[in-house]
Amino acid sequence: MANRGGFSSKLGFIMAAAGSAVGLGNIWKFPFEVGNGGGAAFVFIYLIFCFILCLPVMITEIAIGRKTQLNPVGAFSKLGFKGWRNLGKLGLISGFLILSFYNVVAGWAFGYFIEILLGNFEIGQNFSAFTSNVIKVGGYATIFMVSTAFIVSKGISGGIEKASKILMPTLILIILSLVAYSFTLEHSIEGLKFYLVPDFSKITLPVIYGALGQAFFSLSLGMGALITYGSYVGKNDNIITSAVLITLTDVGIAFIAGLMMFPLVAYMTEGGVAEYVQGGGGGAGLIFSTLPSVFEKMGPTLGVVIGSLFFLLLSFAALTSTVSLLEVPVSYVVDEHKVKRTRAVWGVAILIFIVGIPSLLGNGYSTFFTEFVTYFGAEKPTDFMTFIGHVANDTFLPLGGFLISVFAAYVWKKASLSDEISQGYPNYKGSIVEKYINFTISYLCPTILGVLFILTVLDRFFSISVVG
Ligand code: PHE
Repeated sequence: MANRGGFSSKLGFIMAAAGSAVGLGNIWKFPFEVGNGGGAAFVFIYLIFCFILCLPVMITEIAIGRKTQLNPVGAFSKLGFKGWRNLGKLGLISGFLILSFYNVVAGWAFGYFIEILLGNFEIGQNFSAFTSNVIKVGGYATIFMVSTAFIVSKGISGGIEKASKILMPTLILIILSLVAYSFTLEHSIEGLKFYLVPDFSKITLPVIYGALGQAFFSLSLGMGALITYGSYVGKNDNIITSAVLITLTDVGIAFIAGLMMFPLVAYMTEGGVAEYVQGGGGGAGLIFSTLPSVFEKMGPTLGVVIGSLFFLLLSFAALTSTVSLLEVPVSYVVDEHKVKRTRAVWGVAILIFIVGIPSLLGNGYSTFFTEFVTYFGAEKPTDFMTFIGHVANDTFLPLGGFLISVFAAYVWKKASLSDEISQGYPNYKGSIVEKYINFTISYLCPTILGVLFILTVLDRFFSISVVG
């Protein structure tokens, strides 16, 4: 295990796992998914998924990682039998695909930091011109992948831990000050209403599976990222409290990002939030199109300072996530194929970058990738990046969560899971927490995630609606 490294402290693990969870998923993706999902009803379903279904899956992933001290592929075959390696491989593929487009968006965030630093507040109105500028966004994406690979090649405790300790609290502070600012603007109440007052008639199947995919994505679940990180947790640490802290941090940050965004969107659209986000104003461009003009309104100096700091810290939050996404395939190649860490890191990073090129080109530059597929029965084509998101985040991650819970409950067995969790939590066995976790992973997760997986595939990709 000498070349795997380890976290120097319990807090180090929590910070790093929270660093993996907190990223573009919270600040870029969550607000526009809320917009697409019609507002507060989506938020409501999302919160239920996070705390009821995802938290037990997170605990299970960390326990599997700590038990086996291995990457996901090695972990599943060690605790089960060889065929379960494929579950680890599904996780590798998900992580691979996610990082391929995530890196592109992270590059945009970094690019916005530079643009706003140079006082270019107009960038918001020119978002699609920006994403079509392949030289620029390609350059930023390259910078991002190189930085990620550099940190991963330096090993776990050196890179990830130190960075997330300082930067996350700063990011939270900036967002909170933007929340306070957004509340002072006109129409902010309409934004808050859209975000917080649920209209339950809006709950449709796409809202449900959108919220599920978002919950898994945002918590970094279903692909073994937390198995890999769990392999670095000390035997005396309490897995349950760690998982609760990570979930609260992640959900909390997404929640305040929403508190910041919707009053701002309401201000920009003079109260027409729903019309704006659903009429094409939402989507991947939401934060990128709306925030610059808000910063501009703060005046040239303050706007540049706050605006560039915001995008810089967002880039760092994305970096702690890209690092965890890269760590999964790298730890696999290092453990299972005995490749040297540095070689593994650069090899995998280059491969993922190449797989990400269609996502890079599919935001305006290349019509082929911008109008990549048209699902059965759909009116408009879907771009490559969104398509990969539908496949990897919304389909593979919950499928991974389903299989992980089936694996833990019926192959590894609940008693072994309890044994692992009890280390660091002596009163666990027989407690209500144990009953709840066992019930969730044996019955609740397999049924809900299994059924939703089938419905999602039928509805999204084949336009077959079994319900409603
Ligand atoms: N959770 C990260 C985010 O919200 C993305 C991620 C997904 C990271 C899966 C690792 C694994 O930005």
